[in-house]
Amino acid sequence: MEEIMWDDSLSVGVDVIDEQHKMLIERINNLSKAVAKYMGHTKIIETLLFMSEYTDFHFSTEEKYMKELDYPAMDNHLKQHEEFKAMLSTLEEDFKEDGATKVVSKSINTFLGNWLINHIKVVDVNFGKFLRDKGVTMVE
Ligand SMILES: [Fe+2]
Repeated sequence: MEEIMWDDSLSVGVDVIDEQHKMLIERINNLSKAVAKYMGHTKIIETLLFMSEYTDFHFSTEEKYMKELDYPAMDNHLKQHEEFKAMLSTLEEDFKEDGATKVVSKSINTFLGNWLINHIKVVDVNFGKFLRDKGVTMVE
């Protein structure tokens, strides 16, 4: 997979979320590298867990604000987060069973990266607009 680079087209206009997206992208890139270079089962599992832990952390930040502010598009947004988490755990299972097969590497590369970019550009950007309209700067 080509390394995902963060640029302004991925900005949702809220610093805390942008920073977390950068971290998440970095972890996806690391995972992709670990798989591409066949860094070994343990290392790949470790990178995968590291990535999914950060995903949970990041999603809960977004979700906390959605709930607090009664975000109108919350249901759909939460559904997408759930889908991503479900796909991540399937990926984890597949990897544990089959190892770094071509199928597994391909789904890591195409699925994780593409999903995240699409999610950021559409639903997170909308959420960012909502937060800015509400005057939320999200200082953690
Ligand atoms: Fe999101």
